[in-house]
Amino acid sequence: MLIAIGSDHTGVDHKYIINNFLIKKGYETQDFGYSKYGIQVDYPDFIHPTAEFVNQGKADFGIIICGTGNGAAMTANKYRKIRAALVWRKEIAILARKHNNANIISLPARFIDKNEIIEIVEIFLETNFEGGRHKIRIEKIPKILSSSVG
Ligand code: RB5
Repeated sequence: MLIAIGSDHTGVDHKYIINNFLIKKGYETQDFGYSKYGIQVDYPDFIHPTAEFVNQGKADFGIIICGTGNGAAMTANKYRKIRAALVWRKEIAILARKHNNANIISLPARFIDKNEIIEIVEIFLETNFEGGRHKIRIEKIPKILSSSVG
């Protein structure tokens, strides 16, 4: 399984921790940065390529990180086939997969316990979508009402 991963400067440590864990577990990873310390960067520059890679079907899942997880999720959710879920605890990781079939997990580097991120990521990657009524619901997500356009 191939996992795309990208973050801004707030998630450099988290990204290293997650990447090392995934490689140890036998996952392949594609790292889209950012990977240096001490310089502030703009999260869309790293989240766009990560989300695009998943959107194109080149990775099975994506992991994105920024300070709040919000900017990263907002960026990723611009892509037609992306369902990026903001996740900061295990229970939300499970439901993001079971109910939303999320294909990207967005982690808030400044608000998540570093000791829990491995478990959260592992649960996310190992939980299956329940389908059924949830499939009907997620299929309605891309529908845009004409009154909302513009
Ligand atoms: C960076 O300071 C911060 O704005 C960014 O990581 C993120 O939280 C945006 O949503």
